[in-house]
Amino acid sequence: MKICILPGDGIGPEIMAEAVRVLQALDLRCELEEALLGGCAVDATGEPYPEATQRLAKAADAVLLGAVGGPQWDNLPRAQRPERGLLGIRQQLGLFANLRPAILYSELANASTLKPEVVAGLDILIVRELTGDIYFGQPRGIEMRAVDGHQERFGFNTMHYSESEIRRIVRVAFAAARKRNRKLCSVDKMNVLETTQLWRDVANETAAEYPDVELSHMLVDNAAMQLVRNPKQFDVLVTGNLFGDILSDEAAMLTGSIGMLPSASLDADNKGLYEPCHGSAPDIAGHGLANPLATILSVAMMLRYTFAQEDAALRIESAVRKVLALGYRTADIYEPGTQKLGTRAMGDAVLAAL
Ligand code: IPM
Ligand code: MG
Repeated sequence: MKICILPGDGIGPEIMAEAVRVLQALDLRCELEEALLGGCAVDATGEPYPEATQRLAKAADAVLLGAVGGPQWDNLPRAQRPERGLLGIRQQLGLFANLRPAILYSELANASTLKPEVVAGLDILIVRELTGDIYFGQPRGIEMRAVDGHQERFGFNTMHYSESEIRRIVRVAFAAARKRNRKLCSVDKMNVLETTQLWRDVANETAAEYPDVELSHMLVDNAAMQLVRNPKQFDVLVTGNLFGDILSDEAAMLTGSIGMLPSASLDADNKGLYEPCHGSAPDIAGHGLANPLATILSVAMMLRYTFAQEDAALRIESAVRKVLALGYRTADIYEPGTQKLGTRAMGDAVLAAL
């Protein structure tokens, strides 16, 4: 098992340290190699996804990533921003299938801003297309153009999807639904955008391959509303890159804290990049306060999807459950009556539970 470790920026190194300790405690034979991605890579090499990192990432079976970005890099030219590193690795490795589960641990029902009865028992999976759409579409830019007889700045991006790009992600979603409650909701904006009319058409065509899964469709604005109105109506959601970015943050918040949610980004052969859904949280970086559980749970996803080590994945997930049941919380999920821990102490608690 060759794993490329990319701690990244902000809280990245702190949460990654705990995830690596958990991984090592499992006594699996794995080879870890660390590299730079994001702002730290820009500082060291001038590029957010340097050559050396590309080599390691390509050679590895899986990549484990902390988080990238921070205000000190926000004014760099776009090509040097930390986020470009993340988009670059997703694109270069062909990681088109982003799986973002939103599970509410019963112990955290009160941490959600929604009423406990709305979110109790929530278990949904967002399948987000990750290498296409307006994120990567050309042409794009900001330039001077003639508008109504005068020159002014003009910003533009391009949304596009090919039929095959849609079909392969929809298949991933159908296959995931098949292993769950066999309900798939495809999210689009076909009442306005042609690209997403094609999305709906291809989803409908693909449904014939999965007669045992019930396919429905929803417009993205309604989906955003339904996610807070009655999220438990969903099992698996599948959508494009931009809508998936937005809806997955919304779904994360249903569970109380984005600090709890792992993610997997897979290529066609289950090689994957695994990262927490949250960002680099520059405001708390370096203080040992960040919640490492999303990164630890990302290790579980890595063991499950890339290495087919279901037992090891379940061991990590039940250790996390146990820690929550024992009343241990980081600041983001703290409530009176529980015990507040820092990043390292939370890692210790998971190790003890393991
Ligand atoms: C995510 C993030 C990224 C995205 C950013 C950091 C480029 O928000 O993984 O959801 O938009 O995909
Ligand atoms: Mg996002």
